[in-house]
Amino acid sequence: MVTLLLLACHSSRMGVRGWTRVGWLTRSPSRPTGAASLVSLFSQSSTESNIINTTESLLEQQQQTEEQRQLSKEERKKRKELAKEKRRNFIGMAKAVDRGQFATTYQPGGVDGMTFTAKSGLPDRSRPFTVLGIESSCDDTGAAIVRSDGVILGEALASQADIHEVWGGVVPGLAKTAHEENLDRVIDLALRNAGMSLAEVDAIGVTVGPGLEICLRVGCKRAQELAIEANKPFVGIHHLEAHILMARLEEPSLQFPFLALLVSGGHCQILKCLGIGRYSILGGTTDDSLGEAYDKIARLLKLPVGGGGGPAVEALAKNGNATAIPLTVPLLRRKDCDFSYSGLKTNVRRAAEQLAVDRGLNSVDDLGESDRADLAASFQNTAIIHLEQRLERAMKLVEGDGITTLALVGGVAANKEIRRRLDALCQKLQWSMVVPPPRLCTDQGAMSAWAAVERLKVGSSDDPTNQEVYARYPFAFETKERDESVE
Ligand code: KG4
Ligand code: ZN
Repeated sequence: MVTLLLLACHSSRMGVRGWTRVGWLTRSPSRPTGAASLVSLFSQSSTESNIINTTESLLEQQQQTEEQRQLSKEERKKRKELAKEKRRNFIGMAKAVDRGQFATTYQPGGVDGMTFTAKSGLPDRSRPFTVLGIESSCDDTGAAIVRSDGVILGEALASQADIHEVWGGVVPGLAKTAHEENLDRVIDLALRNAGMSLAEVDAIGVTVGPGLEICLRVGCKRAQELAIEANKPFVGIHHLEAHILMARLEEPSLQFPFLALLVSGGHCQILKCLGIGRYSILGGTTDDSLGEAYDKIARLLKLPVGGGGGPAVEALAKNGNATAIPLTVPLLRRKDCDFSYSGLKTNVRRAAEQLAVDRGLNSVDDLGESDRADLAASFQNTAIIHLEQRLERAMKLVEGDGITTLALVGGVAANKEIRRRLDALCQKLQWSMVVPPPRLCTDQGAMSAWAAVERLKVGSSDDPTNQEVYARYPFAFETKERDESVE
């Protein structure tokens, strides 16, 4: 079937001006076509009474049409509103988080966000308590023992950089095997470094999402076994919350609410942090995360990418001219707090290819050190301008809520140039910035341990006999708050 929009213009003769009929007509072989229906309507008006009848009926029709038009105007307005609403709801969703269609969201405080339950008990919170934290969400196996006053008593981390270097990125199957091989050794080493036995720790926390499911499962399963065997309170950790809360480990005076910029390999988000388990996303990436963009640029420039390409791009950029290669700052026309790094990555690749042509070289791989450094520096500079622009907008949005502190967190927050530039932005707007030391920005065990401390402090623990892992694990509070905050 073909649907046609038929517009018939007729006629001042019948006292009807302008468009007399606007309608959707459906053409199907079994019915007369829309055009044929109109012809038969006019052929009826051969006698006077017929003309009067027809005029009345046309006037009636016109009235109806007017109503329909009003209705369709309303309808269009409603649809536009809905589309706007839908777009707003999508803001901030990481590309991996499928628009809230997941049954499982992170909501430790129940529907009101404040009613925490201790499903596996709590440690004695009248004195400092200790937590063993385990992290295996991606490519590094981490464990740490952290005390509730924020002291890291012992840590261990098994890097998989060498394993993945050969493949130019993380291979989930290899990562899982490496986690299985290393986990017990890493836990033992962390305990040994803390001078403690498992029996002496008060609780166990483990990352349960988001991340690579097969990798998360390795850590989670072991943590569940240990918690059940040793009868310890158990906490299933949200990896993004763990990154964010590292700012409170770094700066114990940092109180909710505050603003966080979370830049990692999987995420690029601006969040209003309201409390444990309560995060409202003001902006997120529409495509690649910033970490992903660094990794791809590292690959383009043939830099080491095993443990993430960011540090190598940062190091190369130091020797380059940040304005040598003209690049376009993403989303300049979009007045929201979202990010987009995929276009910038393509922009850099094209610029590199052009540079190779200009130099009479066969490929980007043949570019000299100084050109590569210029490319790295120009990429980094443009990526940071994009960060600064989105962040400044978000900062102004939340100032009305009395928020004037920014937590810069996630693996990419280890980047010195980003730290320096965002610190300058905070100074300009008279904000303060909290950023963990670089080694605590990237994934490690202390983040799981500290996030567990924070959860236990508010009276929240999970059931180790009934814990799932989640590749995607959206914050439950994100949609509600986002709507009020972004316009
Ligand atoms: O938080 P993280 O360790 O893992 C995820 O949760 O994703 O972040 C890893 C990401 C990688 O993309 C890595 O290239 C990037 O952080 N990264 C950096 C730097 N150090 C790590 N990016 C830019 N500059 C750095 N110094
Ligand atoms: Zn991470």
